[in-house]
Amino acid sequence: MSFTILGTGSALPGRIVTNEELSCMVDTSDEWIRSRTGIRQRRVCSGESLTDLAYQAALLALEDSCCEVGELDLIICATVSADYVLPSLACALQARLGAHCPAFDMNAACTGFLYGLDIAAGYFARNPQQKILLVGADAMSRLVDWQERSTCVLFGDGAGAVVLGPGNDLLAIELSAQGDIAPLYVPNSWGNSPFHQAEESQKKPYLVMDGQEVFRFAVTSMVQAVEQVLHKAGVRKERIAYLLPHQANIRIIDAAVNRLKLPREKCLTNIALRGNTSAACVAILLDEQNRAGRFQNGDLLVLTAFGGGLTTGASILRWNK
Ligand code: UT7
Repeated sequence: MSFTILGTGSALPGRIVTNEELSCMVDTSDEWIRSRTGIRQRRVCSGESLTDLAYQAALLALEDSCCEVGELDLIICATVSADYVLPSLACALQARLGAHCPAFDMNAACTGFLYGLDIAAGYFARNPQQKILLVGADAMSRLVDWQERSTCVLFGDGAGAVVLGPGNDLLAIELSAQGDIAPLYVPNSWGNSPFHQAEESQKKPYLVMDGQEVFRFAVTSMVQAVEQVLHKAGVRKERIAYLLPHQANIRIIDAAVNRLKLPREKCLTNIALRGNTSAACVAILLDEQNRAGRFQNGDLLVLTAFGGGLTTGASILRWNK
């Protein structure tokens, strides 16, 4: 017994930021960003909080699931950029929804939604008759250095949600972590502690990334995770209906698809318009494709992501809505 996806939802900020606009802020160009990443524009929070986005995504997912707030048994949010260090985004969302179930956040960076699916599967193993709201949400615009061209052009903000209910449609999941801070990190603040002397306290609270190292890790680790999850589920590659990969760079996605020898049309993307929304990427993509009527019942969907940690995950799910 695992779970089934009852419904999906997603939400984006209203503000569109184009590559042209960024090229007025930092030394970059539409041509560079498009050709190196595949990104044309991204959505960035201006008036919205991350809780607003998570709330909108959750409402849509509940509606799509024909599920009432009162039926929820658990809320899990995957995020690295909640509005508060505490309380969690999940608790802020629970309050906004008027739900009464337990709620917590978890951090596996951009792989958070995949880790969240695995945590949810554990809850279903213990109690098959329940409903869980899983949200992937990030506002990376609060973590990037808007004066650093090598990172600020890559990210966007957004939230994606699923309501999970009793079922057996998670065929397998494969997670890994290879603890290594240097390739991708955001230092936390020591506040105004008069006692803390270490060098980290001088670091700015912005995202730092070794792009090329993360690129290499991304391709290798996603390919490996997908191959392992297929093996675990006993599913041949040819049976995959769609691959929904983390949306970090179109060149990473293309390289992974080539190595997996999958037909390109089976790989779904939205990076051109959304950029990298971190833990929200795969959840937003899933919702957009659900709403576009892309999936047939019985379709096998492979979700995969990688991110800071360094973390990786892949899952194989049967669409059965
Ligand atoms: O969720 C996970 C998050 N992160 C990722 O997945 C990132 C993975 N890595 C990547 O996507 C790519 O490595 C990047 C898009 C970050 C960079 O692309 P690249 O092809 O690896 O470029 P590069 O780092 O080798 O830089 C090439 C040149 C450099 O100039 P020089 O040294 O050749 O003169 C950079 O300074 O491009 C320069 N550059 C830029 N130029 C214009 C870096 N960023 C920009 C920019 N606009 N925004």
